Amino acid sequence: MDSKTIRKQFIEYFEKTLGHTVVPSAPVIPQNDPTLLFTNAGMNQFKSYFLGETQAPFKRAVDSQKCIRVSGKHNDLEAVGRDHYHHTFFEMLGSWSFGDYYKKEAIVWAWTLFTEVWGLDPKRLYATVYTEDDEAYEIWKNIPNLDPTHLLKSGEKDNFWSMSETGPCGPCSEIHYYNGEDVENQDPLKVNTDDPEYMELWNLVFIQYNRDENGELHSLGQKHIDTGAGFERIVAAINGKTSNYDTDLFKPIIEQIETISDVAYDQGENGVPHRVIADHIRMLSVAIADGAIPGNEGRAYVLRRILRRAARFGRELNLKEPFLYRLVPAVAHVLGDVYPEIKNQREHIQRIIRAEEESFGNTLDKGLDLFDQIAKQAKKSAEKILNSEDVFKLYDTFGFPVDLTRLLAEEKDLQVNEGKVNSLMEAQRERARAAGKFSMKSSEDLKWIVLEKDKVSKFAGYDTYKTESLLLKYAVDDSHTYFVFENTPFYAESGGQVGDKGHLILHKHSIKTGARTNVVDTRKIGEDIVHIVEGSVLEGNTKPITATLEVQQSIRRDTARNHTATHLLHAELRSVLGDHVHQAGSYVGPDRLRFDFTHFEKISLEQLIDIQQRINTRIMQNISVDTETKPYTEAIRDGAQSLFGEKYGDEVRVVTMKDTSQELCGGTHVERSGDIGLFIIVSESSIASGVRRIEAISGIAALDVLKIQQTVLSGLRKAMKHPEDEILEKVINMNAYVRNLEKENSELKSKLLTLDVDLYFQNERKLDDKPLFVNRVDVENMDQLKALGDKVREKMKSGIAVFGAVIKNTPQVLCVVTDDLVKEGIKAGNIVRTLGKALGGGGGGKPHMATAGGKDVRKLDEVLENIEKYL
Ligand code: SER
Repeated sequence: MDSKTIRKQFIEYFEKTLGHTVVPSAPVIPQNDPTLLFTNAGMNQFKSYFLGETQAPFKRAVDSQKCIRVSGKHNDLEAVGRDHYHHTFFEMLGSWSFGDYYKKEAIVWAWTLFTEVWGLDPKRLYATVYTEDDEAYEIWKNIPNLDPTHLLKSGEKDNFWSMSETGPCGPCSEIHYYNGEDVENQDPLKVNTDDPEYMELWNLVFIQYNRDENGELHSLGQKHIDTGAGFERIVAAINGKTSNYDTDLFKPIIEQIETISDVAYDQGENGVPHRVIADHIRMLSVAIADGAIPGNEGRAYVLRRILRRAARFGRELNLKEPFLYRLVPAVAHVLGDVYPEIKNQREHIQRIIRAEEESFGNTLDKGLDLFDQIAKQAKKSAEKILNSEDVFKLYDTFGFPVDLTRLLAEEKDLQVNEGKVNSLMEAQRERARAAGKFSMKSSEDLKWIVLEKDKVSKFAGYDTYKTESLLLKYAVDDSHTYFVFENTPFYAESGGQVGDKGHLILHKHSIKTGARTNVVDTRKIGEDIVHIVEGSVLEGNTKPITATLEVQQSIRRDTARNHTATHLLHAELRSVLGDHVHQAGSYVGPDRLRFDFTHFEKISLEQLIDIQQRINTRIMQNISVDTETKPYTEAIRDGAQSLFGEKYGDEVRVVTMKDTSQELCGGTHVERSGDIGLFIIVSESSIASGVRRIEAISGIAALDVLKIQQTVLSGLRKAMKHPEDEILEKVINMNAYVRNLEKENSELKSKLLTLDVDLYFQNERKLDDKPLFVNRVDVENMDQLKALGDKVREKMKSGIAVFGAVIKNTPQVLCVVTDDLVKEGIKAGNIVRTLGKALGGGGGGKPHMATAGGKDVRKLDEVLENIEKYL
């Protein structure tokens, strides 16, 4: 049975027969959970339902979820390719009950699907239960065709499942499958021992606890079911295969590797490179399709590591040129129907992978050479450990992720001292941090004087610029005073938007009452909105202290224009360039906006103009900018854009421009798109591999730029005496014309210089009785000067000639000596060296002709005049 049918049957079994709602796979980049780098289980997207933070919109759900396991608690990387059933990327078929059915249904349905729908032989199946879970044990015992010797109990390691160090968890029951040949002589003791003949297929988790930061378990209000089945393994089992790589989920990719490398796949040890590459390219394609890109930190670095491992395994198949990107079409063929983003973004994925392969390819071979050297040394040592400085060098200079070096080491029975290498890496990070930027004071640095306990600061500035408010606490350091008020119209820097400026007036009981004080910036420290004021402005602290707070409206309005314009830009970039565009950073200030996003190539001028035009059209449509607070899950379901890796609360603010843009955003915006006035893109550039930056302006700033452009254009029109639309062509022609004139002029000058060579012999001077001719000449370049020297030397019977000139603002001298004097030992090289030194520079050349350049133009005449003195 092909994999597509199997996936479909799973979904339909739970949907049609058992009333589950079909849910699409969440992206592999978690949308709302900084505790995870990648989605690692089907239940991730339902975490808040389990914890009771949000009400699930359905009682039962089913899906096939894209999962990546290469970091954190669930990490299978080391086994990938060496065995036939662990993967960095895999699909998890899942079914869920949110406070609805529980253990009995979950167990019976799983068994029925396996044995009746898919016809897996019950004699080959095992069930494991958590030692203390008598309830599940009893249910399994009553399954008629489960061999009682195949019902096993196990402890926490195998039968208690947790999502990560914290979060939802509970006891679980697993179904394992024997794929060996000797059905009559199975060994139940081999279950859960990593024996490839006894394979875990499906995990049924009975979620009933939340684990907190201290590791303590808290019972949840409701009990839930979370099941996850390894799709690739199931496809193998149903088709009687012992290797996932022999299924239609991998075969087309392996075949393509064979074609490209001309090395046949081997199911044994020699097939490791094929398997690793086939696995890794699936992971890379899926992750990039969901918006990730390789880079230096966090998630991006995981992608880089995986890609570099794959590239290195390519070397084992003699693949030296970039090749991974050529496998992407095979991945799109295998997975593209179910996950269309892979098909739609095939080219984007290929470009990213190819560029990364190209940049690593340059250092990979050199790094492998270095590795061979250090491996040889380590072999000789007693400990068989690679020198840690060298491992660090491989990482730092040759881009070898440490796990790649470890892998290479293990192949040679050597080891890496992880602790030591980590400390070298940490020291480097520390150096980088120390050299890095100034950072805002942290709360601990400031000594807070708390006036009002148990009150929190709240932003009240969406609808107003001015409030009266109570001072909750303040702090003073050598240069600033920091205020935290209860209600404030001041927006603290966040989400790319700068902090508000404005002023505050302190009222009664403070000594400097009534003083109007400028707020120079507003920042967030923890949950506090901190108003920063220059100097020390408060001398008493008799409570309560109240104040009038007012933000500077013009700045706020300009910022709001840019913020709304940023949302339009984001939306139009996605329309024009495609859905792979994801926000990677932003700056929204009163003066301009900057938007960083994932995209692989330079955006053409035509595209930029198109984007700008679309945004200005949206502005003219004067669309209402609506904000609404709603549950996070609802917002995402409605299609709102969110930032990867950002932690949002359960309730989020959604900023919507109907049919145009919808984003989770806490920033301040204009009321209608028309308020933006005008939008102009000022630059587009690359800031990292796969990340582009657009800078733009709006409103008054855009008008100012137009004004300047108009003035310049009208000046040009007048000066060129041509209408606007002809000026560009005119200027291009004029440039070419000027270049021709310059060339002609230079040729004429050269001719002129040598037209009457006798001119240069007019003033004969003497150097040690030899004739010396010194001339200051006007030339444009060294070639002209040398040509002149040649001509004069030809004409000179016996003597020395020195020329001085200023070329491109530097003094230059040239000296020629006739052959008879060269024979007597006079060398042009020596002469210019001395003159060059006198001019603050140096030079040299042949005995018959040499040149020198100096620094001090003003000295040239003096040196030429008194040349005998210098020589
Ligand atoms: N959450 C469980 C797992 O990942 C079952 O879905 O194995």
